[in-house]
Amino acid sequence: MSETAIQLESVRKDFGDFTALSEVSFEISDNEFFTLLGPSGCGKTTLLRLIAGFLNTTGGTIRLFGEEIEALPPNKRPINTVFQNYALFPHMTVRDNIGFGLSMLGWSRSDVATRVDEMVSMVKLDQFAERRPSQLSGGQQQRVALARAMAPKPKVLLLDEPLSALDLKLRQEMRLELKRLQNETGITFIFVTHDQEEALSMSDRIAVMSAGKVQQIGSAVDIYEFPENRFVAGFIGETNLIEAEVIDASADALTCQLVNGAVLTARSLHEITKGQKGWVSIRPERMTLSKTKPKGNSLSGTLTGATYLGTDNQYAVGLTDDLSLNVRHQNRTSVGAAMTTGEPVHISIADNAARFLVD
Ligand SMILES: Nc1ncnc2c1ncn2[C@@H]1O[C@H](COP(=O)(O)OP(=O)(O)OP(=O)(O)O)[C@@H](O)[C@H]1O
Ligand SMILES: [Mg+2]
Repeated sequence: MSETAIQLESVRKDFGDFTALSEVSFEISDNEFFTLLGPSGCGKTTLLRLIAGFLNTTGGTIRLFGEEIEALPPNKRPINTVFQNYALFPHMTVRDNIGFGLSMLGWSRSDVATRVDEMVSMVKLDQFAERRPSQLSGGQQQRVALARAMAPKPKVLLLDEPLSALDLKLRQEMRLELKRLQNETGITFIFVTHDQEEALSMSDRIAVMSAGKVQQIGSAVDIYEFPENRFVAGFIGETNLIEAEVIDASADALTCQLVNGAVLTARSLHEITKGQKGWVSIRPERMTLSKTKPKGNSLSGTLTGATYLGTDNQYAVGLTDDLSLNVRHQNRTSVGAAMTTGEPVHISIADNAARFLVD
């Protein structure tokens, strides 16, 4: 297990009588690519600003490599930040943008020159080193901002939605680039995004946040396959949520009666007892439609809609008048039997795909 880079203990932040963050406790390991993911206003930037030292906590403790940092001003913390808008100096060349902070830190002229050379080639801007920001593309400007932030060898790099100004194709390229830079430098990254695909594709672990609280922390697989609650299940990807009550909790899997009377087995991360009310969550791609009733976990309904989406087909299956499920099949070369809307269909649910959630 590697060293703990950052430790947050019951961190709280109030702005006047508004609580922006509460009960935030987790640890980030050295060299980890850690992501804060959540909707607008959930407190991601506020948490970064507390770690960077631009804001003070209302309560709780933040430790950096074991030391409390409350009293350290931002420029004394071995932490650097990359902002969404890059904040490059417009009148300076790429080289000067990268080197400026190092000179301010008192590095010698020759050390600055060596480090700038290293950084320019690390972010693959060798051909552009003498240009100014206005002569660069958005992706190139983003690389300058990254190089500038990594130049003084911070132990921790905070990245606040650094890719949001780029178009989709560039964003996807920069994801790989960020992963590579993190691997090469060994810097601990704390990356903020509200884009779930970005989070899933890059992170060692993800903290899903909502309304100032951490809802769940885990790997991409943990969070997608084993969501802790309805918020996490719905925020990461799509899911079907069906109200249900546990009618038998004696076996390994819980037997749940759904709101429409159907009975399914589902699993939970927690000890659940009979009579517990909650929701069953099933991902659209973990269900298979068939004309005949399958063995095992299944539901029956009427096909009410079919939409061709290129890679996938999406189906709507009505279980009752006001309960409809969304099912997705990947388009493979062998197209299955055509389904006609209005006909009765059965849904087979993969083992372990139905999750019982209490809240
Ligand atoms: N200086 C401040 N004074 C008062 N309220 C603030 C201040 N800074 C942030 N807030 C509030 O705290 C909450 C969290 O803001 P924050 O900027 O951390 O959200 P965010 O998760 O980064 O959102 P986004 O994805 O839109 O950037 C918001 O409701 C915001 O209005
Ligand atoms: Mg923000």
